[in-house]
Amino acid sequence: MAADDIITMTNVSVRYELRNSSLKRNTSYLNALSGITLNVRKGETLAVVGESGSGKSTLAMAILGLLKHWKGTIDYRFRECGLTSTEDDNLKRGELLEIWQRSSIVFQDPYSALDSKKLIKDIIAEPFVGHRKGNRKRAEERAGQLVEQVGLTLDHLVYYPGQLSGGQRQRIAVARTLINGPELIIFDEPTSSLDVSIQAQILNLILDLKEQHNLTYIFITHNLAVAKHVSDRIMVLYLGNVMEIGMTDSVFSEPLHPYTKLLISSVPLPKSDYEMKQRESREAEVSSIAPPKGCVFHPRCPVATSHCGWDSKEIIQLIERESYLRLGLESLNADMQDELNFTISAADEDMAGKLLDLIGEKNKFRIASSELRGSKIACRLYVSWSPRMVPKDDRMVNCILYDDEFKNAHDIQK
Ligand SMILES: Nc1ncnc2c1ncn2[C@@H]1O[C@H](COP(=O)(O)OP(=O)(O)OP(=O)(O)O)[C@@H](O)[C@H]1O
Ligand code: SF4
Ligand SMILES: [Mg+2]
Repeated sequence: MAADDIITMTNVSVRYELRNSSLKRNTSYLNALSGITLNVRKGETLAVVGESGSGKSTLAMAILGLLKHWKGTIDYRFRECGLTSTEDDNLKRGELLEIWQRSSIVFQDPYSALDSKKLIKDIIAEPFVGHRKGNRKRAEERAGQLVEQVGLTLDHLVYYPGQLSGGQRQRIAVARTLINGPELIIFDEPTSSLDVSIQAQILNLILDLKEQHNLTYIFITHNLAVAKHVSDRIMVLYLGNVMEIGMTDSVFSEPLHPYTKLLISSVPLPKSDYEMKQRESREAEVSSIAPPKGCVFHPRCPVATSHCGWDSKEIIQLIERESYLRLGLESLNADMQDELNFTISAADEDMAGKLLDLIGEKNKFRIASSELRGSKIACRLYVSWSPRMVPKDDRMVNCILYDDEFKNAHDIQK
């Protein structure tokens, strides 16, 4: 862990248990994060971007020690307090309290985040009192200082949340996170539920407070324009995997990963309320429960190679769809031998020939060989090459196109 890092995560994976209510004994798991290795540098703002379900909030929960099923190591290097958490040696209650004093989180929804029955002064003071940082008088003094620092007045201390606007409530949520003098704040979509006109004010407040309080930020957002505005570095997540991480300016000026390129090409700058829409996969269903093999992005990648992770099941589905659209076949008689080999049986040799043409035309780069054997077609796929984070220029990219080992093995020009 470098001296200027506040958090390092090494190979962190998180899964959620999914219970099938009709068959209670059936438990399946959803991989929300897969092998995340990441450092957060003291004093920086690291933006975390990605579509809905990519694992952004799970990353926040993992850092705050709030998850059950996880693997890997998380190191914390706060001032005068270093802690390490692993799946075998989870943090004790006292250590968790240390982390929650030194790091806090601001959530998206300022309506549900604040207890509607409490006065603002008590809401702001609660973490101070809860962590026994001082008596009630001191807590109220601190609440008074903070309510002014977030741009409200002392009068607001005796309001209830219901008497405040969304933007004012989010200011209170920010004041509350500051009361114990944290070193790290995680913002999880802090402005996405606010009016566009208010968003910029809250963002600027957040940026000012960072300087005043010497803070480190992890800033989770869907909104690439916001990420670009607030962050020093940016991490792009897709289906629980880091796709690219690097300095914000260079990632925006020259995105490397095909997914980052897609995201950035569709940013309607300078519109600020942009929400990334889950793009529908044209070629395959994408799911965190059964993530695609090889590169998780391969079903949607416009430059996917033969070795990006195609498996028999998904290619059969593709051929099924194409044969319905092009040849009018209602169903395809396919037999999957294993992940890389399958056979398609046609009604007769003539249809087998047409299917072979269709397979060659549309799936040439995905299929290593397809051979006609009477009315059957035997297909074999390329062995996939698992992507890993590799350095490229000033950043890390998770794509085999930047992996020299892959390029050398396949004689691809650098
Ligand atoms: N408690 C849970 N139980 C089961 N699955 C969960 C749970 N929380 C999250 N997930 C799943 O884990 C994956 C990652 O979820 P997460 O909330 O971290 O995504 P996100 O990037 O924050 O999405 P959003 O942008 O919608 O907030 C998703 O597929 C989600 O459905
Ligand atoms: S490894 Fe790279 S080229 Fe292959 S599918 Fe993934 S992003 Fe696309
Ligand atoms: Mg989230």
